[in-house]
Amino acid sequence: MHAIPVRRLTFDIPTADDFDPVYMVRNAAVSYNFTGLGLYVAVLEPFIVKSMRRVMDQITDADLREEVDRFCRQEAQHYQQHERFNAVVIAHGYPGLQARVDVLAADFQRFLDERSDKFRIGFVEGFESYTTQAALEILGSRVCDHPRTDPRFGHLFRWHMLEEIEHRNVAFDIYEHLYGGYLYRARMCWVAQSHILRFIRDCTKIMSAADVRRHGEHCRIRPVERVLLAVAPLPKRIRSMLPGYTPHRYEVPESIAEVAGRYSAMADSVV
Ligand SMILES: [Fe+2]
Ligand SMILES: [Fe+2]
Repeated sequence: MHAIPVRRLTFDIPTADDFDPVYMVRNAAVSYNFTGLGLYVAVLEPFIVKSMRRVMDQITDADLREEVDRFCRQEAQHYQQHERFNAVVIAHGYPGLQARVDVLAADFQRFLDERSDKFRIGFVEGFESYTTQAALEILGSRVCDHPRTDPRFGHLFRWHMLEEIEHRNVAFDIYEHLYGGYLYRARMCWVAQSHILRFIRDCTKIMSAADVRRHGEHCRIRPVERVLLAVAPLPKRIRSMLPGYTPHRYEVPESIAEVAGRYSAMADSVV
């Protein structure tokens, strides 16, 4: 099997009635972070696919072309599944949340209309260099397997994070193949990572405010959690911006291969 397999899976989606917004380890801060990530990627990943497809003809390495194609097909699966979960989140009724998603969509449309291929590929690489590290952390922490996590969301994010690890080298390799250049790559890490973190912070604020009113105090983000949320991304951001950074040096634990095998076995199809 190829190292970047394209799996099609069927997910069990919560209904509007049994959706609990505090679905991850029964912690509001953690749950809203995941929900913010899910809302973000459903808009980002179509942008990734379009940006990559636009430069496909410029790739002169046949293996890299296949990897980019597989990368796009994995991302396409991700956003299609997240869209279904996100519809349940939006239906839960958060004043201002859809408007914030609309601003995000307008950002990406502007990037497609007005920015260069180099900006877009750099943006994708800036995002991937952060999320690969986040994915390794998330799978290592086992929050998706936790007994206090809704298994439907655990399943979705475990699968998505696994595939982020599988295609971790592709955005870096295409950036290096087409453009190279340390300073621009580091700048785009800053731009892309700030973009997602700002969005997640805004969503967390919107969702927490609405849920505290209707579900109670356990949905409030405590000051110490706010500080942790602001500080936790920093080591990953710094690492991605260091000269000499490469995703090829990540140590991927052996347990990831076991998770990969499990997901391939349960998939409706794998190519
Ligand atoms: Fe993805
Ligand atoms: Fe990705």
